[in-house]
Amino acid sequence: MLTTLIYRSQLNSSCKSIHLASLVEKARHRNAKLNITGILLFNGYDILQVLEGSEESVIQLFHKIREDKRHSDVVELMRDYGPRRRFENVGMLLFDLQVKSPKSVLESVLRYSKLESYLASDDRVFKFIQTFITQKNPSPPDTTYNADKWTLSRENAPFGECINGVIAHQSCQFALQPIVEPGEGKITSLEALIRGNDGGSPERFFQAIDQDKVYEIDLQTKAYAFALAEKIGIGGHKIAVNLLPMSLVNVPGAVEFLVDQIKLHGLQPEQVVIEVTENEMISGFNQFNSAIKHLRAEGIGLAIDDFGSGYAGLSLLTKFQPDKIKIDREIVSNIHLSGPKQAIVRSIVSCCTDMEISLVAEGIEKIEEWCWLESAGIRRFQGFLFSRPQLNGVGDIHWPQVTR
Ligand SMILES: Cc1cc2nc3c(=O)[nH]c(=O)nc-3n(C[C@H](O)[C@H](O)[C@H](O)COP(=O)(O)O)c2cc1C
Repeated sequence: MLTTLIYRSQLNSSCKSIHLASLVEKARHRNAKLNITGILLFNGYDILQVLEGSEESVIQLFHKIREDKRHSDVVELMRDYGPRRRFENVGMLLFDLQVKSPKSVLESVLRYSKLESYLASDDRVFKFIQTFITQKNPSPPDTTYNADKWTLSRENAPFGECINGVIAHQSCQFALQPIVEPGEGKITSLEALIRGNDGGSPERFFQAIDQDKVYEIDLQTKAYAFALAEKIGIGGHKIAVNLLPMSLVNVPGAVEFLVDQIKLHGLQPEQVVIEVTENEMISGFNQFNSAIKHLRAEGIGLAIDDFGSGYAGLSLLTKFQPDKIKIDREIVSNIHLSGPKQAIVRSIVSCCTDMEISLVAEGIEKIEEWCWLESAGIRRFQGFLFSRPQLNGVGDIHWPQVTR
């Protein structure tokens, strides 16, 4: 199937324009053999390349190009299918915006293309090309958050020793995972993740209990999380717990129970954040709207968990604005490689900045993901890269540090 792939990257300073010209010349011959066509645009720092051909050969070539050390920050912008090529007769052609004006480059690109100009104006590929060409004053990339400049340094058990093994006389246990702000070198909160007494997952725990009592048990278990916070001494830190929002509706006096338990364990309601997933939030919104107001009136914080994974998306925020949004791990995973993911996260950052909602990116596993997200303005993170959940305690934390 005819595939078009567009990516953007930055030419490394050791590779000059002249090298790029000979690289493209060689590429043209190799592409001809693979029946790949396309163009490469360069503005002095950034590259935009369009590759078109069979799906298999385009993807194979892209994997090879992505590993090429002559450029970095390779981000895939588009992968799409179509009935015909835009650059039928062009194995690979370089357009250098340093030597020609944007207007003449645009005209040449259209001349080489076999697409009628009335079709080009509405074509996503041409829109990417046009935006790249007309971009004003390209500036050198900000290298503050280049992944190769950063390393991780370990801080041992920040809350001292954890409780050994399981806590007796409880129907479940909790593992704590910190949410960190590496720029400030601080822990902003701890998420209490439910575990079975055998250390099993939340899904297994909830499957094993009497299904008529799910909401009641869901609510009651939060008391163990608050007790754990007291035992390990979380001081002024916040503690976040997951809750099924219907537990607030179906269990009489749910909010009062939470407030009592919070106070009983020496915490303030303002220290507690209830996390509710996006899907749960939207499916029963009208039913638990009043329970949410009640929670807020007591000073308890509210966060939307797994934001972006469900079907509500940004429209949820027109109905309700939480204190905190946690961006789903699926969006964050490999964000440094994906143009669409980057565009989505930038729009979430912009919305949340305007609405003064704190953002947390969850599921961070790679330093490259953290670097991209920091440079996009996100400051708080949760994930294995920084710290793993630890049963009845807080594990070691790995803080990013600039390499000397
Ligand atoms: C910005 C950039 C664009 C490239 N475009 C192509 C291309 O279109 N076709 C190609 O065969 N190689 C291209 N290359 C070179 C490949 O990365 C790789 O060096 C080349 O395919 C030879 O790989 P091989 O020696 O493993 O066969 C490009 C490299 C860079 C840095």
